[in-house]
Amino acid sequence: MLERDGLGRIGRLATPHGPIETPALLPVVHPDPERQPVPPEEFRRRLGLGAVITSSYITWRTPPLRAIAEQRGIHGLIGFSGPVMTDSGAFQQHAYGSVEVGPEEILRFQEAIGTDVATILDVFTEPETPHEVAESSLETTLDRARAGRALRNGLLAVPVQGGPHSDLRARSARAASELGDVLAVGGVVPLLEQYRFVELARILSAVRPELTPAAPVHLFGAGHPMTFAWAALFGVDLIDSSAYQKFARRGRLLLPEGTVALADVTEATCRCFLCDELPLPKLANLPPTERERRLAYHNLLTSAEEIGRVRQAIREGTLWELAERRAVAHPALRAGLEEARRHPEVFLPTEPEARRAFREVDRTSRDRPAVVRFRRRLDAYRAGRAPSHLIGRLGLRPEYLRHLPLEDRAGSPLRWQMETPLGLVPVELSDLYPVGPYLGVEEFLDPPRHRPPRAVREEVGSTFGPTVDVDRDWTGPWTLFQISSLLEWQYGRTAARALAPGLTGERSRRTGRLRSIARGDTPHFVVGTEGVAHPTFRGAESLRTVLPGDSHRVTVHEDAVPFVRAGRTLFSRFVVHADPELVPGTTALLVGADDELLAIGRLLLAPHEMGKLARGVAVRVTAHAARPVPEELVPSEEEGDAERPLPGDL
Ligand code: GUN
Ligand code: ZN
Repeated sequence: MLERDGLGRIGRLATPHGPIETPALLPVVHPDPERQPVPPEEFRRRLGLGAVITSSYITWRTPPLRAIAEQRGIHGLIGFSGPVMTDSGAFQQHAYGSVEVGPEEILRFQEAIGTDVATILDVFTEPETPHEVAESSLETTLDRARAGRALRNGLLAVPVQGGPHSDLRARSARAASELGDVLAVGGVVPLLEQYRFVELARILSAVRPELTPAAPVHLFGAGHPMTFAWAALFGVDLIDSSAYQKFARRGRLLLPEGTVALADVTEATCRCFLCDELPLPKLANLPPTERERRLAYHNLLTSAEEIGRVRQAIREGTLWELAERRAVAHPALRAGLEEARRHPEVFLPTEPEARRAFREVDRTSRDRPAVVRFRRRLDAYRAGRAPSHLIGRLGLRPEYLRHLPLEDRAGSPLRWQMETPLGLVPVELSDLYPVGPYLGVEEFLDPPRHRPPRAVREEVGSTFGPTVDVDRDWTGPWTLFQISSLLEWQYGRTAARALAPGLTGERSRRTGRLRSIARGDTPHFVVGTEGVAHPTFRGAESLRTVLPGDSHRVTVHEDAVPFVRAGRTLFSRFVVHADPELVPGTTALLVGADDELLAIGRLLLAPHEMGKLARGVAVRVTAHAARPVPEELVPSEEEGDAERPLPGDL
């Protein structure tokens, strides 16, 4: 389990009032308890929302609130004992055109009232702002951020501005990464309010790669639950929501599937604890204030559920699926997701090598970064190869393979490809993620034809005539060919050529899939259900001799060498160098400075993240000399194979 998906990740932000588990939803709380429809302690107790955000500016500007805050702190004022983030008044500048407080004063005030995360007074830059104006506003924001950093000891949120201009956004993101503990993408409220998700996707695509992976990312104003999965995909860790109140004021029910007018809700479609007390259709009979209060509470409840689903999806590796399912809430959101897919370079560095499953939501699922990467590698794999013959959709079952000759009688190679939902794929690679575990509508619309193996033999015989030997059993040659092809796919042609001689493979009796690769009696690779060959320690020892330079290696700092050699986790700060081509989920060689193989392990971080994270696990060690075969990969006929549907097995 990688605990990350898309650019999203499961994380934790430590604050003086306890940790915030991210991705997190911070409800916007009015600093005046009289004007706050639901007390924030109740959010925590009943909705599991452990942190909130409130306005230091409104507090500062309202003398009675200010007096209480100065006396009892912001936690005392709003009546909340968990982490509190405060905003600075930049939003009021957007809403009302100006703020009456200076940047230094509002930051000192936040410090004085004991906020957990203070925000500098940035200059809110509208999405239409011309470059020149946006640039000079950004200079002001950056000056204030530098001054704010010098002033503030505790956690500091530094907003990213720059309007619609990618170069300014990128610059702002780099500066925020230097100065901030929380990197807050700002100036986007109008985009969210007007469903301009395409523009927002462009901004996030410019910003996200420039943000340090070490700090949580906040998105100001993405309070509608239909946007949470989409935002998480872009690596947003913190979302604030005033939407639950704003929509309630207008009689609107927020759902992850979209917005519904309360007046239209005539059936009791929800059975949550609030609806148990009073079903939604009955809210219409309440006095307006009470109706609004209950509706706001309900909106926050559905939002809390959705942020939980987002976290669940990240842990399962199904965040793209969730985002695609949510995008049907509104065509604008679908457009925003399509725009995200147009920036694969933003997603590919952290895109995991494989996932347990690939479930198509609709045909646009075929443009996910996993598919983009597969297609690119396929182009490289195909380059310079003999053209292939088509065999429809057969799968890799030995009863078919035995009749597919890999060469003609003259010794010239014959290659085969098959139809898949992702296009034509060489048969030898068709078990690989994403094509192997792919489950899409085609599987049902046009199910794979089950031909008797004899028919395959006859077809081949009549196509090639006496030039091929159809009576020979080709299963063995296929196994060897598949081993060398897989190794080439993963490690390149040169390494595969050096490695393959002498390796043998074992197939699953039930499914016919290649499950393990050995040299003599020693397992060298175990093939996962995602079709990827993971080396054992012995396999890694031979890989080390054939892979040049830093290829597939993570170099361990000498202080951590004894620990990693003994099978302990490799933490980010002990990574000296990592092959930049590696991606999360890949099994890498963990080596010391002299290229001694210490262990092998699965990457949790992408190489570019490893130097930057002070804390956190970089590589989970799976095997070392004393335990050469990763436990998780010891093949079991029942488990591994049963999980995955085969064509025609559904
Ligand atoms: N709230 C909504 N948008 C913004 C923004 O751009 N900056 C700050 N500080 N707060 C906001
Ligand atoms: Zn309900």
